[in-house]
Amino acid sequence: MFRLSQFMREVLHPTPLKAVRKPAAPVVIWNLIRRCNLTCKHCYTTSADIDFPGELSTESIYKVMDDLKAFQVPVLILSGGEPLLHPDIFSISKRARDMGFYVALSSNGTLITEQNIRQIAAINYQYVGVSLDGIGATHDNFRQQQGSFDASVRGIELCRKQGIKAGIRFTLTQDNVLDFPAMLALMDEKDIDKFYLSHLNYGGRGNKNRKSDAFFSMTRTAMDLLFEKCLQWEQQGIHREIVTGNNDADAVYFLHWVHKNFPQQAAHLQAKLEQWGGNASGVNVANIDNLGNVHPDTFWWHYDLGNVQQRPFSEIWQDISDPLMAGLKQSPRPLKGRCGTCSYQNICNGNTRVRAQQVYDDAWAEDPGCYLSETEI
Ligand SMILES: C[S@@+](CC[C@H](N)C(=O)[O-])C[C@H]1O[C@@H](n2cnc3c(N)ncnc32)[C@H](O)[C@@H]1O
Ligand code: SF4
Repeated sequence: MFRLSQFMREVLHPTPLKAVRKPAAPVVIWNLIRRCNLTCKHCYTTSADIDFPGELSTESIYKVMDDLKAFQVPVLILSGGEPLLHPDIFSISKRARDMGFYVALSSNGTLITEQNIRQIAAINYQYVGVSLDGIGATHDNFRQQQGSFDASVRGIELCRKQGIKAGIRFTLTQDNVLDFPAMLALMDEKDIDKFYLSHLNYGGRGNKNRKSDAFFSMTRTAMDLLFEKCLQWEQQGIHREIVTGNNDADAVYFLHWVHKNFPQQAAHLQAKLEQWGGNASGVNVANIDNLGNVHPDTFWWHYDLGNVQQRPFSEIWQDISDPLMAGLKQSPRPLKGRCGTCSYQNICNGNTRVRAQQVYDDAWAEDPGCYLSETEI
């Protein structure tokens, strides 16, 4: 995840370079349930409104949670399917909070209502992220349910009214690129804390529908607008959190933008970006799916590292006898093609390996989603 607003602040108000400590354990994104009331066109979990057999029981979830805590996992992002459809979501969330995890809820927002908002507020989630993939009909078509845009916006508004930190997660494709400026305007209109621009990743229905991925020119225009908006907000003293995901080339593209607009800060920014180090799949980000299978990140559901019912997560995660994990944890990674010769490997770390694997059947091939030109790399 590329924390744009944090790096924009570094450009405007540089802070000294400090030694960074390597986290002891990864952030865990946990798909507690695969059932969902929506069937989005891009969904990596290929969710639907049906029961998926063999899911972890709540008791097993608690056992795994104990192992994650002992392993010093700092953050749990509770996801799905739609996590609010899990019958024990509030008990699970409360237990996680009581154990001292940073706990975020990743929801489509349609099931956040007047009826449950007090229960949601009582959990004291550090963050509630709600997906919005366009305005009105664009979102409804993307998420294949009429009225879902209005329901999700209502969900965000309810969170804001309760003082819960809430944000929008927007996955950019050809289907919704025209709505992108209006999405940023919505941030102002509703005074929303955080915006997450997610690039399309090639997993599940997102892989099946990868022809809808934004063209590079669209992505570049969207990123230019995001940089401008982020700068404007910072200069106005509006400190919204702006992050991007699934395309670590964003950081390199931002460095080029800084070279053009704030050349005197470019060297400092480059040093900070190198400390950050780019893609963290298999290192600082992990995924546990609804069945307890562990993956290097959420988009590798077709590749299991092991199951938490058979081996503790802590053991699975550190086992580099798995060739994918060995490569992901290697520095530099064994990259090929234009990723292999790129001068910014130490910023981007080879971007999103799953796209390379899905398109070229080789996890170490170049990422077909890198939108940088030859001169930019
Ligand atoms: C799988 S959903 C689960 C939580 C909830 N149902 C929701 O839609 O927000 C988690 C997030 O992943 C995003 N997502 C799903 N498939 C994706 C893909 N192929 N590429 C990028 N993001 C994706 C969704 O838009 C959502 O923000
Ligand atoms: S992206 Fe979220 S809301 Fe959409 S089908 Fe997948 S799990 Fe459901």
